[in-house]
Amino acid sequence: MIDQVTVDKVLETANSQIVEVVSDYVTLRRRGINYLGNCPFHNEKTPSFTVSPHKGIFKCFGCGEGGNALNFVMKHDQLSFVDAIKFLGKKFNIEIEEEEYSPEQLKQKNERESMMVLSEFAGHFFSSNLTDSDEGKSVGLGYLRTRGFRDDIIEKFQLGYSPEQRDAFTNEAIKQGYKLEYLEKTGLTVVRDNYQADRFRGRVMFPIHSLAGKVIAFGGRILKNDKKTAKYLNSPESEIYHKSRVVYGIYHAKQEITRQDRCFLVEGYTDVLAFHQSGISNVVASSGTALTSDQIRLIARFTKNITIIYDGDPAGLKASLRGIDLVLAEGMNVKILLLPDGEDPDSFAKGRNEEQLLTYINAHEQDFIKFKTSLLLEEAQNDPIKKAQLIQDIVRSISIIPDSITRSVYVKECSTLLKVDEHILMQETGKLQRKKQEEDYRRNIPRAQQVASTAVEPQTAAAKSKDTAPNPLELEEREILRFLVKYGERPVNPDDEEPISVGQYILHELKQDDLLSVNPVYNKMMEAYDAGCANTQTPTLKFFVNNSDPELSRLASDLIGKEHDLSKIHQKFGVVTNAEELLPKLVPKIVMELKWKKVKTIIKEKRLLVQKYEVSGNSDAMMEEMKELITWQQVLAHISKELDGRTIV
Ligand code: CTP
Ligand code: MN
Repeated sequence: MIDQVTVDKVLETANSQIVEVVSDYVTLRRRGINYLGNCPFHNEKTPSFTVSPHKGIFKCFGCGEGGNALNFVMKHDQLSFVDAIKFLGKKFNIEIEEEEYSPEQLKQKNERESMMVLSEFAGHFFSSNLTDSDEGKSVGLGYLRTRGFRDDIIEKFQLGYSPEQRDAFTNEAIKQGYKLEYLEKTGLTVVRDNYQADRFRGRVMFPIHSLAGKVIAFGGRILKNDKKTAKYLNSPESEIYHKSRVVYGIYHAKQEITRQDRCFLVEGYTDVLAFHQSGISNVVASSGTALTSDQIRLIARFTKNITIIYDGDPAGLKASLRGIDLVLAEGMNVKILLLPDGEDPDSFAKGRNEEQLLTYINAHEQDFIKFKTSLLLEEAQNDPIKKAQLIQDIVRSISIIPDSITRSVYVKECSTLLKVDEHILMQETGKLQRKKQEEDYRRNIPRAQQVASTAVEPQTAAAKSKDTAPNPLELEEREILRFLVKYGERPVNPDDEEPISVGQYILHELKQDDLLSVNPVYNKMMEAYDAGCANTQTPTLKFFVNNSDPELSRLASDLIGKEHDLSKIHQKFGVVTNAEELLPKLVPKIVMELKWKKVKTIIKEKRLLVQKYEVSGNSDAMMEEMKELITWQQVLAHISKELDGRTIV
């Protein structure tokens, strides 16, 4: 853990020199008080990516990405918070002091680190064996060359060779001081009572890298054509390698996946290599197993668009269609590309350059739902029972898609393909959808909150698209928070006898009516503000933008990144040059607007309740709700009057 003082120091330094941080990745040109460049987070020809050295933030008006210097490197290099702090500390020569770990944490950390170091060593051992030893050169390198892999690709992926000798690696590792304990835990050595032997022998080695580029496991391919031995042998599960959470090639692909906003998914190691060799690097492999949700979420951090590339084997294909529903559930746009008979991505990419490959893919990839529909339809042709099953199957896939607009587009298309009435499909999808929602609701109510909290995180674009529990007060709450971080310290009205600050006013008003947001990040910002005031240190804009909590700093820079909002409000009232002149009227007004909206939503809920009890004949409950409804309507009338009185002319 890094101590808070260091974190704050790094943040302040980095944000105050944000232009320098961003310039390492983006060519920036001065434009007035800001800097302008091409956004690294989406593809664009005309620059809409701005950096404000004055505010210490960046903002892209094309894709909406924004934040402080820390957010920038976290997003760009896909670093964790701690790694990003370390990275920036190094850049600005700030020494990072780490806090003490508990003995338990230390043990785990040491164990993981020891295993990583050993894996790194193993990677070097195998790769130098491939290029420097006679056996490696003739057998391993020879094999890779016959398969047509270029040296730069072999080097990029740190391919290697494990000698035939049964303990060549284990002996060398022990000689270099690595402990048998970790050799066994990483699975590199098989330890028995009476012997120790290398797991990988006489194989071409593919190191598997973590998202951050560390070697965490290996896959080894046999070189002989031996039907009895499995073609690939992989490292076992370990403290550092969880197969279901890793996709092969993600480290080498992540930047290009973000840039292209698209990811190709293939089956194996060699498929990934062949694509890179052809010039396409936004590609990862599931390594022969069915995809897991964790793997999909890993990809979804970089893009929502995935094209799954299949060898043209119909039996295997149908089996894997089920698994794709998982991908849909994560809110991904899924396309399928079937390769011509007898080709796999590796063979297909060989001899084709980037342009030829992309042209083929773009012309032949098909939308998943449509693909599945026509595939199943072919076989159901004149069999009504099969066709009924098929409809159920498709309906299930559609109902899993989180976004309601996408769902209805599919319903329309499939009704044409299946020649089934659109309304029937819609009804069936709706039924499944509701069933799922009810289950979700019963299982975990806090989920909606979880989704709301991640909405400000760029990585969770998938979560954002889930139409669970939208925040009805989103606009109003953001506006209030913006005033809080921007004008919190100013007096609402300097002419008052005892002026109260904007921050105090807002806090008091919201607390008094228990106006908590459904978005926990919004609440967190309020609490942080409150806590800061209690400590006599009123939080300023800088406090939030430089906050070590990335959720808060992101939200803060997001709020002030959209300054034009304010001018929009003001347009209504004619030209206003100075927002502060408006504080005495604007601040009470935005608070009042929030309350108005809140009461509106309550009234809507009450109306529904009254109706419900009316229908079910529960007249006592209905009367009860009716009374409350009337009270709320009075409250609303009162607020409306207040609001009218505050109209700024
Ligand atoms: N795989 C595995 N164990 C096996 C077979 C396959 O782990 N016994 C995994 C590997 O990750 C492999 C992927 O499944 O890359 C795809 O398998 P396959 O298509 O058979 O292998 P290729 O990648 O085509 O390997 P090659 O081209 O070297 O034959
Ligand atoms: Mn192959």
